Amino acid sequence: MKKTFKMADIFLENIILITFGGTRDKKISRCRIRKISGGDRSFYQEEKIIDNKAYHRNLEENEIVAYIHESLAAGYKNAVIYTDGSDYYLRTMKKGALSIIRREPTKSNLSPGKHNIEKKYLIPEGESVGFLIELGIMDSKGQVFKKHYSKFRQINRFLELLDDDYDRFRDREIISVADLCCGKGYLTLAIHHFFTSIKGKKTEILGMDLKQDVIDKLNDITNKLMLDGIRFEYGDIKDAKLIKPDLVVALHACDTATDLALAKAVEAGTGLIMSVPCCQHELFKQIKNEDLSPILKYGIMKDKFTELSTNALRGLALEAQGYKVRMIEFTSLEHTMKNIMIKAVHDGALNKNSIEEFHSFSNNINVNCSAKWILDVNKNNEN
Ligand SMILES: C[S@@+](CC[C@H](N)C(=O)[O-])C[C@H]1O[C@@H](n2cnc3c(N)ncnc32)[C@H](O)[C@@H]1O
Repeated sequence: MKKTFKMADIFLENIILITFGGTRDKKISRCRIRKISGGDRSFYQEEKIIDNKAYHRNLEENEIVAYIHESLAAGYKNAVIYTDGSDYYLRTMKKGALSIIRREPTKSNLSPGKHNIEKKYLIPEGESVGFLIELGIMDSKGQVFKKHYSKFRQINRFLELLDDDYDRFRDREIISVADLCCGKGYLTLAIHHFFTSIKGKKTEILGMDLKQDVIDKLNDITNKLMLDGIRFEYGDIKDAKLIKPDLVVALHACDTATDLALAKAVEAGTGLIMSVPCCQHELFKQIKNEDLSPILKYGIMKDKFTELSTNALRGLALEAQGYKVRMIEFTSLEHTMKNIMIKAVHDGALNKNSIEEFHSFSNNINVNCSAKWILDVNKNNEN
């Protein structure tokens, strides 16, 4: 049954979504606001689709009342405010009067509390996200293209693993991040989206790679989407100038570039390192150990063993440098072989046993691994 209500009634309820309609501006195909409470606070996010491009802006809870009034005054003829208990239909009448009609709730299952339990991905399918549209992963309505679904899943898996350690960023005013060997910038932009749009934080994010054309394209995207707190630089990561970043990421950096990235991160005193290595060939040519011949005589097993050994040495080198190291499954084997994430959190406790283990294991399998660059960082500092 329909009944007329006042605005004040609405703001007593938990508003979870507001949609605006009836604008004369044909370029705007969507304007909505949803409540986000994934981090340590609740806030609202405005999403506008203008000329098929999505734009996002965060709003505090106390800005919502003014926002609704301003939007209705500025040309939206109607709005629907969805709360846990009601759907309110607002329509501007002649001389600026407002009609409000209450109906039974249709979106209470989107209530942020329940939402977080049900939602699998931090970026859910169906939510249009500017950078994913620009990178060609989804269309303007948020529908993920089939051929890019594994990339979409990989991005979400990465964010999930980042979210697991979000506590360490909670009190940071500006979160500084370096994505070394950023390639096409999927993760760099995803990390920016995670901290700014999902968590409502400010960032200083650097993505660096050796491909000038890719870097130019990424800077075009950040300009087009008017993203603050993110930049892409052309350059060799060995020359990167990092000042104590909160997070360093190196995903699928080629071969020994992972060791370079990890050494850079350690040298800069990074708080959290997340790295997924790939294509490790260095040890394959060197490894020798009679006791391991049942494994090493088969190419495919030798390949896997040397990959594991390389990551084990990286883990030991990071421990030696005062990091707590976890090896985590990144994506399932059916999608990629590059499925081990090295997650290292700085706790400052230098570990001499790990140095000994590093050398003893290297000697046993007869290898000289670039993971030694990570061990050597302190020596550079001491000079
Ligand atoms: C396989 S791609 C991975 C890109 C990205 N991290 C991702 O996962 O989508 C590896 C990237 O590392 C970059 N790269 C390799 N060595 C580098 C170095 N020393 N400095 C900067 N970039 C490097 C390459 O140009 C390439 O774009």
